[in-house]
Amino acid sequence: MQNKFEELKAQALLAIKAIKDSAELVALENKLLGRKSGELTNLMKGLKDLGDGVKKTVGQLANTIKIEIEASLASKRRELQTADWSVAMEKERLDISQPSLPPQERGHFHPNTIIQKDLEDLFSTMGFMVLDGPELESDYYNFTALNISANHPARDSQDTFYIKGHSNWVMRTHTSPVQVRGPQKYGVPIRAIVPGKCYRNEATDVRHEHTFYQLDGIVIDKGINLSHMKGVLEAVAKHLYGPETKVRMRPKYYPFVEPGVNGEVTCFLCKGQGCRLCKKTGWLEIFGAGPMHPNVLKEGGVDPKEYQGFAFGFGLTRLVMLKYGIDDIRLLESGNLKFLEQF
Ligand code: PHE
Repeated sequence: MQNKFEELKAQALLAIKAIKDSAELVALENKLLGRKSGELTNLMKGLKDLGDGVKKTVGQLANTIKIEIEASLASKRRELQTADWSVAMEKERLDISQPSLPPQERGHFHPNTIIQKDLEDLFSTMGFMVLDGPELESDYYNFTALNISANHPARDSQDTFYIKGHSNWVMRTHTSPVQVRGPQKYGVPIRAIVPGKCYRNEATDVRHEHTFYQLDGIVIDKGINLSHMKGVLEAVAKHLYGPETKVRMRPKYYPFVEPGVNGEVTCFLCKGQGCRLCKKTGWLEIFGAGPMHPNVLKEGGVDPKEYQGFAFGFGLTRLVMLKYGIDDIRLLESGNLKFLEQF
């Protein structure tokens, strides 16, 4: 009996030594000490059949062996834990002497977007909504509703792209359809701007491109007059080019406003002295505007006897070219990274 215990102990200690992970440890622990059929447990069950004299000695031996095996298992468990811990430590090791990685390249806004966002912010502070309109627009909204009837000569200067087999649809030539869409959808009074892409069938050169950006705006309310229009446009000019900037408005024909004006600001480069940028005139043309034509108000569902309004349209692309001194409009839509990375 004593031998059996000694043998079991020797085997157990060897087996514990060979354990490689905690799953093996649990399995062996069960195999040896499991309550129902652990090997040591079974052996100890046999003690009760021994004669009184031997029972005590063997019993004591069995207890010591049990304690030794338990201690050996416990020490193995600690050893495994320490190993796990150092694996984890190694995984999370941070070498602070390692040279840093080259910085990740970050994208940035297109110059058009920079100016657009700047003006959206400005107009928002003046209580304007920022609206969106479709780029594929109906002939009705792009022309007819804006007082440009089917055979109106103004259509000639705004030739655009048409959709085969759908003569009622055009790629919008300006953002002005908002003058009708805005009040139709939101009613009056209304203050809104629409920045966005426009298209025209152009023979492209440094000043002409088939795709460009505009920003139209409208204010419709009771008792709106030219001085409100001048106030808003001056605020925009001063925001863009500084507090000394002056605005000049001269007559120009647009079918959807009456009277129409062509808006210029003092050249920010030469402060009105005359330079290359302003072609020696001292003035830069940046917008068209005017009190809204009664026909256009009517199309928007507004009674022109009760409400008045004004509309304006900035050449966003033109503002971008002036701001950054870009002398070829085609660069803006070129997707040329060498050009775009400068902004
Ligand atoms: N839509 C005109 C254009 O494309 C600009 C404009 C807008 C003029 C609003 C007057 C009022 O040139």
